[in-house]
Amino acid sequence: MSSRYAHLQIAPSILSADFAALERDIAAAERGGADLIHIDVMDGHFVPNITIGPVVVRAIKRVATRPLDLHLMIEEPDRQLEDLVSAGASMVSVHVEAVRHLHRTVHLIKTLGAKAGAVLNPATPAGALEDIAMDLDYVVVMSVNPGFGGQAFIPHSIEKLRGVREILSTARSSAAIEIDGGIDTSNVAQVVAAGASILVAGDAIFDTSDAEAATRALRAAAVGSAVGSRA
Ligand code: DX5
Ligand code: ZN
Repeated sequence: MSSRYAHLQIAPSILSADFAALERDIAAAERGGADLIHIDVMDGHFVPNITIGPVVVRAIKRVATRPLDLHLMIEEPDRQLEDLVSAGASMVSVHVEAVRHLHRTVHLIKTLGAKAGAVLNPATPAGALEDIAMDLDYVVVMSVNPGFGGQAFIPHSIEKLRGVREILSTARSSAAIEIDGGIDTSNVAQVVAAGASILVAGDAIFDTSDAEAATRALRAAAVGSAVGSRA
């Protein structure tokens, strides 16, 4: 692999894994080269679905060898942050649409010792980041409406990525850009070219017969086609 793409990180989303066999599925993704394990925390209020809380994060922490990347789709996340970070989260992102005092929440995450991210829903403009960009370790661009795995990638997300990149560069922020939703081998190169470096994928990795091979294939597509797009 060219060192030019060494910064790309593959973050399999276990929302699409077999919840009765998380250890097996996480191990397969890690063998395939997963850099992070993406965990979707949903509360049934901010999004319709209910998924994982601190108890399960703590159990995953015992078996995963890669850092845990928590995506909080919950209202009032401040109340859960301490438990989630002490359960083993290395990265925690919160939705700008769900948080009343984003600056405070971002700094609380950092004080607890995790990297802090802000997530934008598809209908939230990149400009929402202007006054928080400098404080962030990463930004998450949702390329589907949050709540469920296996949805189709929203094409406008490419423009959104470019807009976010612009805002980060104007703010002289070194925050990484994560893309989440509908990512697969057919579109991953495009999102990398538009500025994403943390690539979340659920169905493309776990809704397959071989999560290890699918993780490898996603990285190959991200790197290979990105080279092609520059030629
Ligand atoms: C959606 C979640 C995503 C989801 C991605 O609310 O945030 O992380 O698991 O799954 P795919 O890649 O199948 O869209
Ligand atoms: Zn997610």
